[in-house]
Amino acid sequence: MAMESLDHIRDELLRLVKGATSLDGLEQARVGALGRKGRLTGLLKELGGLAADDRKTRGAALNQLKDEIEAALAEAHARLNDQVLNARLTQERVDVTLPVDAATAGRIHPVSQTIDEIVAIFGAMGFVVAEGPHIEDDFHNFTALNIPPEHPARQEQDTFYLAATAADGSRKVLRTHTSPVQIRTMLRQKPPIRIIVPGRTFRSDHDATHSPMFHQVEGLIIDRATHMGHLKGCLIDFCRAYFGMADLPVRFRPSYFPFTEPSAEVDIGCSREGGGLKIGAGADWLEILGCGMVHPKVLRNCNIDPDTYQGFAFGMGIERIAMLKYGIPDLRTFYDSDLRWLRHYGFVPLDVPTLAGGLAR
Ligand code: PHE
Repeated sequence: MAMESLDHIRDELLRLVKGATSLDGLEQARVGALGRKGRLTGLLKELGGLAADDRKTRGAALNQLKDEIEAALAEAHARLNDQVLNARLTQERVDVTLPVDAATAGRIHPVSQTIDEIVAIFGAMGFVVAEGPHIEDDFHNFTALNIPPEHPARQEQDTFYLAATAADGSRKVLRTHTSPVQIRTMLRQKPPIRIIVPGRTFRSDHDATHSPMFHQVEGLIIDRATHMGHLKGCLIDFCRAYFGMADLPVRFRPSYFPFTEPSAEVDIGCSREGGGLKIGAGADWLEILGCGMVHPKVLRNCNIDPDTYQGFAFGMGIERIAMLKYGIPDLRTFYDSDLRWLRHYGFVPLDVPTLAGGLAR
């Protein structure tokens, strides 16, 4: 059988590979050379019919050619891939300088917006954000906060307990408030402490004003000289800043929490005349948060000497104050994930005057 000159085949195959102008064309060239019915495959098959000596030299030459073709294929593949990618990059380029279309843009959920507002107000007073786990142990959620074993918050009907029981008989809980982060922070950090703690909390309640998952924000200040007067000034300032009313009436009503002494509930002035609720001056009061001076036992539980250090803490429900400020009537709608609701009550992230978005809106 006459042996075809390899030089000729080599030139032709390489010309096809290097000349390919698309990945499809390259694939055709590959199949034509190395596919089941390809030129080179055919030649390799013919080896079997050759005499031993011929087979050896011809085999070596063919394998070398095969390597060469494969290298050329890889190189052409990389080149064409680059071309495709570059074409896509030019075609799919996004003009980031175009104004955002507010009608189709996403919205910030009122809970996120409210957390941002609260953090910004307390941030300006020198508080820093702290966080803690959603799954807590008995010590951080209850015991260290001076919540006695018989307290109703520990009962099954209020608290979600995890199924697994530890060696000491205790079970982990989904934290029922953000107050365990007070404990975690005091155990980890020496005073002065000034933290604000937004986060999720869990209680087995479900109606128009209670959800099994909701959000709270906790605040804690510990240092040598902070007293009840600071507590009052700080929280009055917060209420007026948050509701945007410099003359908002704020009142402190004695109350009880196991982890603060004295304790108070904070009410803001409102009017319920004519059925609707109006925040601001009026004959009525609306409770919005709990607070108090940190109980000496809680300080001791965190290895802080109550004769040297003291401070105050407060906690409030985020959904509740969002509902009040933005007139949202039903708590359950926060978690329905209804886009119509979100479009109505949500916030446009870029709805602030910027040089990029335009100064006038
Ligand atoms: N942890 C309390 C609650 O969930 C709120 C609170 C926090 C009260 C800090 C006083 C001080 O109701």
